[in-house]
Amino acid sequence: MRILILHGPNLNMLGKREPQVYGSQTLEDINRSLEKLAVELGCFLSFYQSNSEGDLIDAIHGAAADCDGILINPAAYTHSSIAIRDALSAVALPCVEVHLSNIHRRESFRHVSLTAPVALGQICGFGAESYLLGLRALFNHIKTEA
Ligand code: DQA
Repeated sequence: MRILILHGPNLNMLGKREPQVYGSQTLEDINRSLEKLAVELGCFLSFYQSNSEGDLIDAIHGAAADCDGILINPAAYTHSSIAIRDALSAVALPCVEVHLSNIHRRESFRHVSLTAPVALGQICGFGAESYLLGLRALFNHIKTEA
């Protein structure tokens, strides 16, 4: 089983970026923890981060060829990108949406996710742990469906 870990815009700045909101771990730290969990679960991961909507869409299309699922933090595109939602729908891979912060208790523009309706579910508010919970949920779903 291979899962694509997709990180959206500004997540390359984790560690420096508003640590009171997003914590002090860097993206590399988060990817390392995910890799450790993947070894434990017995699956393979591919990682990709981009600040560009089109590149994220291309990565979603590419996943259709060699991945069994997508774990995505679309970051700000969560709230604005019909194109990313359509790409997730188009490839129809099982997908889990994660967020470090609890988007539902922040500014009202963050309360809406355009991507969550095409995901299996959304996990938010647990910092870097959201990614680990999301990977476990996605892994179990794919394994059960196989
Ligand atoms: C985020 C929440 C988004 O609202 C924000 O734009 C981000 C990060 C999170 O992980 O908490 O960039 O997706």
